[in-house]
Amino acid sequence: MDIDSWVWLMLCATGVIGQFQMEPLDFTVLKGSDAQFNATVQGKWEVMTWSVRGLLVLTVPRIGDISSSSDRFSASFCSVDDTSCVAFTIHNTSRKEAGMVVCTVQGDYGSKSAVLHVEESGTVQIKEGDLKVVQDEEVELNCLTFAWFPHPVVSWNLNGGSVDSSFYNSTHAAHGDSFNSSSVLKFRAVKNSTVACLAMLQTLTNPLSSSVHLVVVPRPPDWTILIAVVCSFGGFALVVLLIYGLIFCYKRRKEKEPNYHDEMTKRVRTQSQLSGLRPPGQKQGRVNADYVTDGQTTIAPNDLTDSSYCQPTRSSFFEMPDPVNSHHDSQISHIYANEGLRKHRHATTV
Ligand SMILES: *[C@@H]1O[C@H](CO)[C@@H](O)[C@H](O)[C@H]1NC(C)=O
Ligand SMILES: *[C@@H]1O[C@H](CO)[C@@H](O)[C@H](O)[C@H]1NC(C)=O
Ligand SMILES: *[C@@H]1O[C@H](CO)[C@@H](O)[C@H](O)[C@H]1NC(C)=O
Ligand SMILES: *[C@@H]1O[C@H](CO)[C@@H](O)[C@H](O)[C@H]1NC(C)=O
Repeated sequence: MDIDSWVWLMLCATGVIGQFQMEPLDFTVLKGSDAQFNATVQGKWEVMTWSVRGLLVLTVPRIGDISSSSDRFSASFCSVDDTSCVAFTIHNTSRKEAGMVVCTVQGDYGSKSAVLHVEESGTVQIKEGDLKVVQDEEVELNCLTFAWFPHPVVSWNLNGGSVDSSFYNSTHAAHGDSFNSSSVLKFRAVKNSTVACLAMLQTLTNPLSSSVHLVVVPRPPDWTILIAVVCSFGGFALVVLLIYGLIFCYKRRKEKEPNYHDEMTKRVRTQSQLSGLRPPGQKQGRVNADYVTDGQTTIAPNDLTDSSYCQPTRSSFFEMPDPVNSHHDSQISHIYANEGLRKHRHATTV
């Protein structure tokens, strides 16, 4: 019991003012349905009036006919032979009636007021409609509600189960005297599903909903991975081929390339043939000094060439005595022969 009621009660008890109550004092109704308020008056009252949003819409005499400004408003005694209770009804409520509803009992009773709220449901629709999506892809659905008052509470259902609110976001915008709202749901498509968007108001017995069917198709093979794999294998094969090619070419070149000994033999021969005018010993000696050094450092795999070198070298020097300085030449040739033989022996023992 609030202070007003206590005041009224005290005033009544002292006989200053008659007592009456109105209920409910705050009422919310869905547009199109009826709103009813009751006034209970103690004592002998004569005339009661009802006004909605400041306009007198109905007059109720305790004895006589009720007059109403429109058939939207009506009143009756709560029970046939009890004139202490009056039921006032607003039929087919609209947003125009939302506001203060005041009941006044003439005499010493005064007025009582209540507040009427009228809610309005609009439309709800999932913008995307039925969808075909690739498995495991993120799906984004937009639920749009138009012309609601106040803005509805939007929620989502996935295959009949409610979706956790962390998966969606809702925004509202006032449009004239009503609201549009948009709710965005994001989730990963796993299987064929039914997704529903629900818009709810306090006065709705069931939420208004819109649903779509989600057909999930299997993910196509990932060509980028396949291409990457093929490319890397191809690249690897290419590198291997390249290395193999290089080795092959190197070997071929090494086989073809005249080695040092052959080269020297050739040079020695030509120089021997052309050594008519100058003493060959000087030149040959120098070259062969190089050779000996080289020969000593040369390792076993060359033993075949070494031995094959040795014989021709020896024979060439023996067979080609220098006509000018035969003594000197034969000495050097002998050294070569010894060197060649020594080398030969050395090479074969290794
Ligand atoms: C309710 O009121 C609206 C206008 O506000 C009207 O169009 C509709 O026909 C009314 N319905 C009934 C059942 O009277
Ligand atoms: C909701 O909004 C917040 C902030 O704007 C954002 O970080 C979040 O990712 C949104 N969630 C969804 C499901 O859209
Ligand atoms: C609300 O929806 C109506 C009807 O679709 C549209 O004309 C209006 O622009 C929207 N208003 C807002 C604020 O989004
Ligand atoms: C999903 O629905 C489509 C079409 O209705 C159907 O062809 C497909 O087999 C369904 N997929 C699964 C996994 O049920």
